[in-house]
Formats: sequence, structure tokens, C-alpha cells
Amino acid sequence: MAKEVVLSGIRPTGFLHLGNYFGAMRNYVRMQDEYNCYFFVANWHSLTTHPDTRELRNSVNRVVAENIACGLDPEKVALYIQSDLPEIAELYLYLNTMAYKGELEKTTTFKEKVRLSPDNVNAGLLTYPVLMAADILIHRAVKVPVGKDQEQHLEMARNFAERFNHRYGDVFPSPQAFNYGTELVKILSLDGNGKMSKSENQMNTIFLADEDEQIRKKIMKAKTDGGPLAPNSIKPDYIENLFTLMSQVSTPDTVQKFEDDFNNSSEGNCIIRYGDLKKQLAADMVEFVAPIRAKAADLQANQDLLKKITRQGAEKARASGAETLRLVREAIGMN
Ligand code: TYM
Repeated sequence: MAKEVVLSGIRPTGFLHLGNYFGAMRNYVRMQDEYNCYFFVANWHSLTTHPDTRELRNSVNRVVAENIACGLDPEKVALYIQSDLPEIAELYLYLNTMAYKGELEKTTTFKEKVRLSPDNVNAGLLTYPVLMAADILIHRAVKVPVGKDQEQHLEMARNFAERFNHRYGDVFPSPQAFNYGTELVKILSLDGNGKMSKSENQMNTIFLADEDEQIRKKIMKAKTDGGPLAPNSIKPDYIENLFTLMSQVSTPDTVQKFEDDFNNSSEGNCIIRYGDLKKQLAADMVEFVAPIRAKAADLQANQDLLKKITRQGAEKARASGAETLRLVREAIGMN
């Protein structure tokens, strides 16, 4: 039986961080053996918010390098750059006729970006979810490993696909957001204010390129409080976030010890020591990030290799994209 098709992408708008890794990339690495995988760097998407392109090529290379450093094998997956796949642009054009202004204006990410940059509310920003649907549907992907913040975009991609199928005949399967846990992941900023992100809250974001000392410093500064007031309390979200990170990089025994300390703590009898938890988390995080950082740096110094990898990825992706476009044109009657 043919393997199911998987697709996901990352915008080259800054340094990759733990949110990107635990929300998305960790799944990519696990999926590469089981599925037919396409992963790409979304450089067209970045133009909607980052029109200055002086740093773009560098950022694209870094995202490619960091994906490989995290464990993606370019022989197993197609790893490519969005602008190397013109097929996406044609599909974007067709899908734009399935998307309504009202629903695009209601998209959470659009409203957020309008709030942050009221002087740059361009049409590309408004139709961002349509381009994202085209990225997915160009390979007729069914599973899309993403973090929680992309859930609404996936719902929109399903709507556009359904409308296309309804209007012109069945071409697209229904793409679903995917995570190997039960729920999509959202890693919070270390100060507890919003999600970890490439552009906001940089001092509270751990980047895969951070030096050991920066990692330690940022984690030791992470928000905590005076400890739980009753045994088996519900954790505040910023404490839950530290446990989530710990569960990714520390041993199960270590996590259990701090879980037990938390659950046995109460007012006047605080057993959990957040200072110790953060020290342990910092040590384990440094061990986790250091080899990724080193491998990514090596790869970035080898531009020829990166070029070869993305060229090979684009070739594979274009074959798949061309076949989808053939079906799309036939369905519409554009052939
Ligand atoms: P981007 O570049 O913002 O983020 C890349 C991936 O990382 C996930 N992520 C997070 N997960 C958990 N916690 C966080 N704090 C966190 N921050 C980021 C994102 O959910 C994403 O999976 N629109 C996409 C890029 C894109 C795309 C696509 C993705 C373009 N076309 C097609 C999937 C399919 C974006 O801006 O991701």
C-alpha cells in the first residue's frame, strides 16, 4: 500500500526555538520512516510580514540546516524551499476563488498581525491561509504535523479542499493537523506570557542556536511562584510549561521526582524547589541543544551541500506537485 502523504513547513522569519521543535519538528523526525514526507521552508509566507529580504537567504539556509541537525534525513524526505515549487502559486490562485473575504478577515493570526503591524495589512497577509492550504494540497497531504497555533489554518485548508471537490470533483483528501501525543502542543514563553515565538519575547525563548550559558540564564529566569498551596494542585500554566519541557529532555525518573515533590507540597510545607527544578532542566536542556547547535553550524558552513539537498528535495516535490496540478486542471477544465 502507498504510504500516506505528510507535509509541513516553517517560516524563515527568525531563529528556530523549542516551540518549533516540540510542536512540530520532533514529529517530522518520527514520521519520516512511516510516511511519504514533504517538509519545506516557507519563504513566500515570510514576505507577508518580513518584506526586507536582506537576511532571508541566510535564514532559509539556517532553517534547512536546523531541520537536518534535528534528525531529518534528506534521503528519506523531500526537504525543499517553497519558492522552488511554482506549482504552489498556481494552486494558490485557484484556491483563492474558494476563500471568502469575511472568513479570511476573521482568522486569528490575521487579526493578530493587523494588531501588531497596522501599516502593513497587505493582501498576502489576508490570504495567508490560502497559500498555506496550497502548500498542503499540492501534495494531497493527509497529515500535517504542526503546533496548536496552526489548528485554525488546518480547518480552513479542509474547507477550501471540500469546496474545490464540491465544485469541480474529488481531487483532494481532507488534511488533518497531527501530533504523536493526544493533543497539539503549545510551548509557552518562559515568562508565561503567550507562546514561545521567533519574533516576540526573545529573552524568554530558547533558540536551537543558543549557547549553553544563554540557555542556563533563560531557564533560571523562567517564571515560577511560591509553590502550590494544597497537595495535588492544578499547575499554573507557566509551571506546567516547565514540566512539559522537562518531560522532553530529562529522564522519566527526574520528571517523576519533581512531579511527586509538587503533588506533596502544600501551604507551609513546600517540598518542591523550583530553583532545583530549573537547575536540572537547564542542565538537561543544554545537553539536548548543544549537539543540534553544533551540527547545524557545521551544515551552515557547507552551502554546497545545503544547495544539493534542497535541489534534490525540490525535484521530488515538483514531480508530486505537477501531478496534482494535472488533476486540478483537468477537474476545472483548464487542460
Ligand atoms: P511557524 O514558522 O510559525 O512555526 C513552525 C512550526 O512550529 C510550530 N510552533 C509551535 N508549536 C508549539 N509551541 C509553540 N510555541 C510554537 N511556535 C511555533 C508551529 O505550529 C509550526 O508547526 N504557517 C506556518 C508555516 C506553514 C505551514 C504550511 C505549516 C506554511 N505553510 C503548511 C504546515 C503546513 C507557520 O507560520 O509556522
